Amino acid sequence: MKEFLRNLHLNTGFKRRILMHRITEVFISSFITPHRLRLRPVPLASLATNPDTQIVLTNLPMNRNDSPYDDVAPVCLLAVSKQARRVLEIGTCRGRTTLSLALNLPSAAIVTYDIDPNAGAYLRGHPLAARIEMRVKDIHTDVARLRSEPPYDFIYVDGDHMGENPRRDSELAFSLLAPKGMIVWHDYANWGWALGLNTVPETLAEFARTRDIVAIERTVLAAYQGTA
Ligand SMILES: C[S@@+](CC[C@H](N)C(=O)[O-])C[C@H]1O[C@@H](n2cnc3c(N)ncnc32)[C@H](O)[C@@H]1O
Repeated sequence: MKEFLRNLHLNTGFKRRILMHRITEVFISSFITPHRLRLRPVPLASLATNPDTQIVLTNLPMNRNDSPYDDVAPVCLLAVSKQARRVLEIGTCRGRTTLSLALNLPSAAIVTYDIDPNAGAYLRGHPLAARIEMRVKDIHTDVARLRSEPPYDFIYVDGDHMGENPRRDSELAFSLLAPKGMIVWHDYANWGWALGLNTVPETLAEFARTRDIVAIERTVLAAYQGTA
């Protein structure tokens, strides 16, 4: 019983800290950093080559950290509408988005990287996993291999969002992109400023000085469409 009460107290304290953190985040994003999201907002349909594109989603979110369908669906819609043949994902995590990409792009080569050897939990034993090449390593240690391969026509950048990492990932993505390819970034969102947990908005504002990077309305995604 004592143990139970001690745990209950710890849990309540933890919940209180999370709540305070959330309240602080809302305060900061509303009053201190609303200017962070400066990319030109466009509707999802304006980026899709075919607005009638249909997709199927797989794997219900099982974990509170799983990407919600609000994120997975637009990523898949864009990849399918672009008829992507070579897809690269930076950051597999459990592999929910990866599986949906594989499901919707039956003839595409799908390569996904994660530095964490425990990543890809949803891929293990899944029938679609045979079509996914998961590379368990820091993507920045595999640049020579990536450059020796054909370029990618759809790249989903969803790795580490802290500090310099979004800039490094984005530079790599631009260097691996096929001429008319598309890059989509996750977490283009106004959170994590105070602790430097999410530098995606600042990174993309910097890249947008020389490239037409847009925010996808009503999502936490940003996108770049190659024109060359
Ligand atoms: C936000 S999660 C990815 C979520 C996933 N794309 C999804 O839609 O479910 C970020 C992942 O990136 C991985 N990661 C971070 N830095 C990396 C790097 N340099 N190379 C490969 N993976 C990296 C982390 O281990 C983590 O699993």
